[in-house]
This record gives sequence, structure tokens and C-alpha cells, in this order.
Amino acid sequence: MGLAGRAILAMMPITPKFFIRWVAKRYVAGPDLSSAVEVMKKISREGACFTVDVLGEEISRIEEVDFFFDEYSSLIDAIVENNLDANISLKPTAFGLLIDYDAALENIERITRKAAEKDIFVRLDMEDHRVTQLTMDVVLAMHGCGLTNIGTVLQGRLFRTIQDIDNLATSLNGLSDVRICKGIYLESADIAHVGYQKIVDATNTSIDCLLDSGTYTAIASHDMPVIKHSLKSISSRGMGPGIEDPRAGGKSWGAGKGTGYEFQMLLGVRGNVRRKLSRDGHRTRVYVPYGERWYEYSLRRLRENPDVAWHIAKSFIMPWTNRR
Ligand code: FDA
Repeated sequence: MGLAGRAILAMMPITPKFFIRWVAKRYVAGPDLSSAVEVMKKISREGACFTVDVLGEEISRIEEVDFFFDEYSSLIDAIVENNLDANISLKPTAFGLLIDYDAALENIERITRKAAEKDIFVRLDMEDHRVTQLTMDVVLAMHGCGLTNIGTVLQGRLFRTIQDIDNLATSLNGLSDVRICKGIYLESADIAHVGYQKIVDATNTSIDCLLDSGTYTAIASHDMPVIKHSLKSISSRGMGPGIEDPRAGGKSWGAGKGTGYEFQMLLGVRGNVRRKLSRDGHRTRVYVPYGERWYEYSLRRLRENPDVAWHIAKSFIMPWTNRR
């Protein structure tokens, strides 16, 4: 599979851009905010809610934050104006995390504060291992100044994740809210599990730890062994559709949240699995990326993990494996 992904990646420079744009259309809402709004209006009929991402990441000059701040600010306004059941996902390095921690903190605080005023949750996407701790530090700092509408993502493949789940749950006093995924960055074997089965097992263990720690658990996977494991774990803890979260002691998780857990999937990926979960009563959220920088973003993602190129090619060759 890695080889197939790398072969597809090698062809990219000679593949016409219009073809790549046509393929990317399935996975990216469009170049601007109005295209994201349009996509959400359409998919909300399928019972889904959303988290929206403005494409782009790791800026090289702190002034570039202004673009992201303004765009996320307009996004929050558009969510409210269009009455969408949506929250936002942002990459801390797009807010300057690797340039100036204090400036990043200030910028993330400004956007989180605006989101809090509109009852909108902010998810800090998790990037590679250089920023794992820094990203969690931002979440802790925000909660420390009273902004509790923020959480992050942990990656099942990292050895440290079990400890991180515990630290967040303890420090955030019942308000920890984590998206758990396998992790898209191919980290080295001294800090991460390597190989499909080990990563699935570690991710499933992390899901169990999250559920046991009282954390709001957003399961972000399209992989059936992870989804099936999650469904069993949820039900074995007395949780499920329409059941009040037994771990929450009467507390609600806030606007747009499920009963202690939800499932999340990327736009364009395994829609049939998502729709089935939704029909069965589970909260399902679609990750909707949009923005001008779709080409650079797609190339970078593919370089980081060539398996994604294979997943995309497979959707064309064997469409039954991944319905929109
Ligand atoms: P797996 O890779 O085995 O995929 C299962 C099947 O799903 C594939 O066979 C294919 O059919 C389909 N599929 C999966 N990914 C696809 C893709 N990109 N395009 C087309 N088909 C695809 N990672 C991270 O490091 N930090 C983060 O913040 C996030 N955030 C995030 C949010 C959401 C909502 C999701 C769903 C995922 C992430 N991820 C992430 C990515 C995650 O870590 C992981 O790399 C991918 O979800 C792929 O892993 P799966 O568990 O889906 O399994």
C-alpha cells in the first residue's frame, strides 16, 4: 500500500492541475467560505453536524496570522448567520505556535473568546510531534483563563497518548474534550507505534481510556475495526444514542455536542458508514476543509502520508470501498 501511494505521489508533478482539482473537489468544500456554507447546508440533511477548517498551516511570518484570524472570524459569523450546527477546527501553527508561543496564545485566545460568545466550540487539530505538548499547553492555558469551549486532538499511534489523556482529564476537571484519531503524521518508531494492527490496537486502547476518564470523546476514524470497537466500548459503559452521559453527573457537554461522545469523518470519506451511524442515532460530525490553498495543502498531506494517495485512488478504482 505504501508503495502504491508513493507511486501515485511521484506522478503528481506531471498530472494536470485541473484533474487534481476535480479529484480534490470531493474532499475540499471549495475555495471560499460560501462554498463551505453551501456544502454544510446540503449535508446537514443527512443528520450530520460539522467542524470547519480553513486550509493552510505553519506560517513563516507572524503577520500571516491576520489572514487566519480574519477568516475564522468570518467563519464564526457565517455559522451563526446561517444557523449551522458547526464548530471550528484550527491548526495552532497557522496561529504562530512555532514562531512565537505567546503571540500564538494571544491569537488563539482572541478567536476562542469570539467563538465562546456565540456558543461555538474550538478544536485545535494536532500536528506532528514537535507541537504535541505545546498544543495541549494552549488548551490548558485557555481553560485557565475561563475559556472552556476548547479541546484538542490526540493521536492513538503516539506512545505518550495514554498519559496525555490522563493529564488532560485531571487538569481540566471533568471538562476535557478530545478528538481521538490514529494520527496522520508518520512518526518514528522510538515515539510511536508502527504498522497497521499496532496502531489500531493503540487507538482502541486510547478510546477506552478516554471513555473511562470522563472525557468527551470524539472518535475520528473511517476504519471499521476502530468504529466497531468504539460502538462496543460505548455501549458497555452504559452510553449510547439518547442516553444521558452517565459519567457527566447531570452536566451537559454544551451546544452541538452528543451524549459524551460523537463520531467524526472527513468530507468525502465513507459517507455511507457515517449515514448509518447517524440513522442509528449517534452524533456524527463532518470535517469540512475549505480555502484557496487546497493544492499546496493536498500535496503536503500526501507527502506526509502517501497512504492517503492510495485511499483516494482506491475510491476511484473500487468506489464501493468509499462512498461519498
Ligand atoms: P484508515 O487509514 O485505515 O482508513 C480507513 C478507510 O477510510 C480507508 O481504507 C479509506 O477507504 C478511507 N480513508 C481514510 N482516510 C482517507 C482519506 N484521507 N481520503 C480518502 N479515503 C480515506 N490526524 C492528525 O494527525 N491530526 C488531526 O488533528 C486529525 N484530525 C482528523 C479529523 C477527522 C474528522 C478525521 C476523520 C481524521 C483526522 N485525522 C487527524 C486523520 C487521522 O489521524 C487518520 O490519518 C485518518 O483518519 C485515516 O485513518 P482511519 O482511522 O480513517 O483509517
